[in-house]
Amino acid sequence: MTRTIVIINAGDSPGLNFIRSLKRAGGWRVVGIDIDLQEYHGSEADVRYLFDWSDEDRLVEYVNEIIERHAAEFLYVADTDRELPVVSRRRDEFRAPLFLPDHTDHMLMEDKWRTWGALDAADLPVPDSALVTGRSTLADMLSRYPKVWLRRISGSAGSGSMSTTSIDFAEAWIDHQNGWDGSFMVAECLGLRTATFSGIWLNGELVASQLRERLGWKYPWLAVSGVTGITGAQRTVWDEQLHELAVACIRTVCRSPHGAIGVDFTYDDAGNPRVTELQPARFYSSMLFLAEAGINLPDLYCRLALDGRGTSPARINPVRNRVVWVKGVDHLPELLTEDQYFVDADK
Ligand SMILES: Nc1ncnc2c1ncn2[C@@H]1O[C@H](COP(=O)(O)OP(=O)(O)O)[C@@H](O)[C@H]1O
Ligand SMILES: [Mg+2]
Repeated sequence: MTRTIVIINAGDSPGLNFIRSLKRAGGWRVVGIDIDLQEYHGSEADVRYLFDWSDEDRLVEYVNEIIERHAAEFLYVADTDRELPVVSRRRDEFRAPLFLPDHTDHMLMEDKWRTWGALDAADLPVPDSALVTGRSTLADMLSRYPKVWLRRISGSAGSGSMSTTSIDFAEAWIDHQNGWDGSFMVAECLGLRTATFSGIWLNGELVASQLRERLGWKYPWLAVSGVTGITGAQRTVWDEQLHELAVACIRTVCRSPHGAIGVDFTYDDAGNPRVTELQPARFYSSMLFLAEAGINLPDLYCRLALDGRGTSPARINPVRNRVVWVKGVDHLPELLTEDQYFVDADK
């Protein structure tokens, strides 16, 4: 039996990897709606639509038309663009079910400053941070840390991020980004090592999860901060304490975790993980990696949404050996063992 789902923002990395994971599992027909022309052409949905909107009533109406036309059983938004908050807020108006966190939880997680506040209040490990309200905020942080990290409190892929040791550069950056209105935060600058938790929750219960470590950002020279949001090589990991920390963070911020929720960590110089972000409502772009490695989260997510929990046991970080996923623009992704990946250069 093939089941049809509608995916909004199908044609960029998170959507492509979600669709490829569903194709890998089989049994799904995907109808994609893209807003961006290039993403429309890049989409691998079975049926594709290009739709632009300014009036959100029209967005809801259009998505419902597509759901009805294809008798779709489920609706998913693959990326954090303009559409996701509207769909989350108006979730009850769609003619297909969604599998999203509670809207208040969702909005809290979309706001990195409020997320930081909730985690800090619970004594969870976060980088020392402040909301940028004036030059004095920047001066204060730079008097306490040799280097600071500036970023926008909303968005993804390192939005507005920059690291500096200079008060003048920090101030010029906030000027340039029009960021004096409470839309920027400043943090102590952490190191380069990062890790990520991906999980699926059902009414407060963790049903599946997996940890990964990023081995590097692709094209770091293209972004002022070095964060392009395009992960290069990455590997699966198992770290019980890190897993417990991720779960504790989600339970602290969400009243009742539900749907796809991720956690991003950056390590400090002492080697301790600090939480920089909770990623609500959608999966990261590395889902085909995890599917190839042994845990297909998009397929499980859609089946949970349509069929419920059933009796199968929770899948907590099932991939405990380290396998590496290597990819790049025009470079088809490949799964390697660590021995295959870490080769010595010819002398
Ligand atoms: N305080 C910080 N110090 C150093 N690097 C940071 C800091 N905060 C974030 N980063 C880097 O920026 C990346 C993206 O940050 P993240 O919190 O995941 O937000 P988003 O993915 O929405 O841009 C992190 O993976 C990390 O590489
Ligand atoms: Mg992130």
